[in-house]
Amino acid sequence: MALNVIMMGPPGAGKGTQAGRFARERGLLKISTGDILREGINAQLPVALKAKELMDRGELVDDATMIAIVRERLMRPDAQPGFVLDGFPRTVAQAEALDRIVAERNNGPLLIVDVRVPQRELVRRLAGRLICKKCGTNAEPAKEGAPAAAACAKCGGRLVQRADDNAQVVKERLKVYERATKPLVEFYRGRPTFRIVNGAQAQERVAHELDTVIDDAAVVGATPQGTPAPVKAVASGKAAQA
Ligand code: AP5
Ligand code: MG
Repeated sequence: MALNVIMMGPPGAGKGTQAGRFARERGLLKISTGDILREGINAQLPVALKAKELMDRGELVDDATMIAIVRERLMRPDAQPGFVLDGFPRTVAQAEALDRIVAERNNGPLLIVDVRVPQRELVRRLAGRLICKKCGTNAEPAKEGAPAAAACAKCGGRLVQRADDNAQVVKERLKVYERATKPLVEFYRGRPTFRIVNGAQAQERVAHELDTVIDDAAVVGATPQGTPAPVKAVASGKAAQA
């Protein structure tokens, strides 16, 4: 059964950081809709250039465009072992479309992780983030007392602030998240494969918590109707989950 993960959370929660690591470690396809749009802008694709105006204001790109992008990726053969979605779905309409795509794929349920971080910390992270102008990778945060890196560790590209990371646009992105995306928590909360992770810890601790909850949700999701597996008696007399 495929591992079909959604990484949810507000701007700056660490979705991209954790989605990239998890996908790499598990050999899954990472689909980051923000990265796809930014790559499209660099390549001057008309659909992405149209989206740029909205992104630069902190607003959402229309559902039809985003659903078409994600549907095309999820139907590719390299998505069949599973995927990690970062930044999608962001509206109830996108979530409903994703349910239909997952039903069509028919190889495993969605495992939903909501990464929680207080707003003050989100603003702090986004104000300090630099990305590579060439490959889009987040720069490694500078170690205490050390000078900030001058170039991308991966490709040597120039490090710049993301176009939508200035204070005014961050404020708007957080508002849009509260209005359009946070309601998705209610959309997913009742599912047995929904999990919450504390994203306001060191990256390694977030990673450990994430791995644990995703593996647990995958076990639950693999049982009929997504209900917990029956409890088996073990030799010690204690009970264990199958
Ligand atoms: P997108 O690129 O998805 O941006 P976002 O959701 O605002 O999220 P970010 O990428 O800013 O944050 P992140 O959670 O990935 O955090 P990161 O790992 O980088 O979308 C951009 C725009 O595209 C949208 O505004 C919209 O216009 C459009 N768009 C995209 N998808 C769309 C959709 N489905 N529908 C409609 N429109 C769409 O981490 C942030 C920083 O914190 C980094 O510097 C990182 O190093 C650091 N950090 C990470 N983890 C930790 C930690 N544990 N402790 C300390 N620092 C940490
Ligand atoms: Mg991101």
